[in-house]
Amino acid sequence: EDAQRDGFDHYMLKEIHEQPAALDRAIQGRITDDNDVRLEGFPAGEFADVGAVHLIACGTSYHAALYAQQLLANRDIPAQVFSAGEYTTTPAPVRDDTLVVAVTQSGETADTLSSLDIAAERGARTLAVTNVIGSTAARTADDALFIRAGPEIGVAATKTFSSQVAVLALLAERIAEDVSGTVHSDREALLAALERLPADVQDTLQRSPVESLATELRGREEQFFIGRGYGYPVALESALKFKEITYEHAEGFAAGELKHGPLALVTSDTSVFAVFTGRHDEKTLKNVEEVRARGAPVVAIAAESDHEVAEAADEFLPIPDTHPVAAGLLANVQLQLVSYRVADLLGRSIDKPRNLAKSVTVE
Ligand code: G6P
Repeated sequence: EDAQRDGFDHYMLKEIHEQPAALDRAIQGRITDDNDVRLEGFPAGEFADVGAVHLIACGTSYHAALYAQQLLANRDIPAQVFSAGEYTTTPAPVRDDTLVVAVTQSGETADTLSSLDIAAERGARTLAVTNVIGSTAARTADDALFIRAGPEIGVAATKTFSSQVAVLALLAERIAEDVSGTVHSDREALLAALERLPADVQDTLQRSPVESLATELRGREEQFFIGRGYGYPVALESALKFKEITYEHAEGFAAGELKHGPLALVTSDTSVFAVFTGRHDEKTLKNVEEVRARGAPVVAIAAESDHEVAEAADEFLPIPDTHPVAAGLLANVQLQLVSYRVADLLGRSIDKPRNLAKSVTVE
């Protein structure tokens, strides 16, 4: 088994380190030299009739879906995200121009599969974005788009989240171009950042200083993760990862929501992780001030050149300077390592956390 883990102590750590290669595969052949997005099976114009997008998912895939919702909104495509368990209870109305996208690593999550069935019965076009060729979602949806992350053994999803977001970014570009007939002015910068992402993740992994930080963080009463824009799904995903593998209390919030309740819980025993993507950072800096004023130690994750953020926080985890979409993913990599290190120090069952399954095939 040690050989299968390539010398890493856990599959999760191996899979965190596989992200550069997985991201390479996610985008390979899908971005042309003249910044066209080519998705196999989806010729240009394929999504021209799409009027709205529903994204349905569970767990980590739900956070990737939230990311996609913002990617689409930033290209003027109306998009909504639904937790699959809720969608099966209260399905949102679909029209014949609604594209329902199920985001599911395994392609076997029961709630997501039921949602796909409901959407199809109601006449929506369905698309599965999945890692597993031949999975139920891939077979039952009208179409499938594969993230090519390779097998993921650790119950806590890591590389598949990054690959989902990268592929969903390409899908959002394809849909937006098909619908509008034009290419957004931000596309070039976004695609360049995606192409640089494998190297940027490698860089982040090599320079991550989280070993000593983890010792310091261990044993705090609770951990909050905050972010806005693309930093919001990252905050949710990082909190999920932290609670899954450390069994410690962790919550993620939209940074703007802190003052509407969670702030009441903040004490000097609350670690606050603040994600900065390079967009709307000044607002998140205000939230950092709010929690520090209550004595909470803040760990900021931001571009290495961002001295203002570095100085405003107690601890600083740097990421390479890049586009906000990629910055969120890089911050997520730093926080994957934080969760991993803390869980390891606590001696948790990292690859198979108690009570959790890799794929939940019951509703
Ligand atoms: C389980 C796993 C999570 C995963 C979720 C959705 O809860 O433990 O890691 O995110 O299922 O799985 P899917 O295969 O649909 O992405």
